[in-house]
Amino acid sequence: MPDILIPENIKGAAVEALRARFDVSLQPDLWNSPAQLAEEISNCRALMVRNQTPVTAELLSQARELLVVGRAGVGLDNIDVKAAQDAGIVIASTPDQNAISAAELTMGLILSLARMIPAADGDTKEGNWSRQKFVGVELYGKTLGIVGAGKIGYLTARRALAFGMSILAYDPYLSPDNILLSDLRAELVSLDELLSRADVVSCHLPATRETNRLMNVVRFEKMKPGALFVNTSRGAVVVEEDLLAALKSGAVGGAALDVRATEPPEAGELESLPNVIVTPHIAAFTGEAQERVTRAVCEDVARVLDGKPAINAVGSGLPRRMAAR
Ligand code: MLT
Repeated sequence: MPDILIPENIKGAAVEALRARFDVSLQPDLWNSPAQLAEEISNCRALMVRNQTPVTAELLSQARELLVVGRAGVGLDNIDVKAAQDAGIVIASTPDQNAISAAELTMGLILSLARMIPAADGDTKEGNWSRQKFVGVELYGKTLGIVGAGKIGYLTARRALAFGMSILAYDPYLSPDNILLSDLRAELVSLDELLSRADVVSCHLPATRETNRLMNVVRFEKMKPGALFVNTSRGAVVVEEDLLAALKSGAVGGAALDVRATEPPEAGELESLPNVIVTPHIAAFTGEAQERVTRAVCEDVARVLDGKPAINAVGSGLPRRMAAR
């Protein structure tokens, strides 16, 4: 039985370095076979996942030797954190390691919407030269509304400042005197105020009970007519049928979605609209971010197996259970 089970596609130099010290089983498609995963995990001391493996209480109950779950990424919505903590298992994630890449993709999507870059590209490649069809809008002088002003929201806003945008932020966990807000020259406002004033609304939220279906028909109706909407955080934040209706009515001028309610999504009406851009949850997918994420998660997994506390633990960095091996 391996020491470390990797049931998703996590590769790179750091994984190879782990192999030199531990028995590593990398099975990129195992996340999709829950029964086999439950069997394979029974004697492993570490599990390393991205966001596809549902690390449920039931799976964890099969993992009698497990000391640590390493999450190569920041979101913990696929992990039953409480069940892991109750069982004395460490959870180590990689906060901040992919924040720059996520912020850069968000800016790319905002620019793509504002200037219709994907549609213009497709049209031109079809042999057309339709300049009048692609009259976009400038970002300069416009207002960006950041919904969730954590690290990725902050880095996105920093980049938007360079385009001459002004920043509104909504974040119930941020105090108005937070230094980051003054750094961004941002106003901290209510969600309703942000939606009514922003030309571009960008979500940077974890999937929690509070954020689930936050962007629904009521919220889309509150948006400035024709404003752009971007979500690179979690699909559960958006009620997709409500967004579709808002796009069709013109209440929302365009939308870019890197994340979906169900991933992969079924192709539907959203995908057929010309003012919608969809990408396959790639905000963190740059060589640089993946290298940092993989290095950080491998380091923490190795630390726990060596009896040291994980650096980026959610809760305790040391397991409360002892491995039999
Ligand atoms: C993250 O949570 O770090 C990103 O969404 C990427 C991922 O889920 O793997």
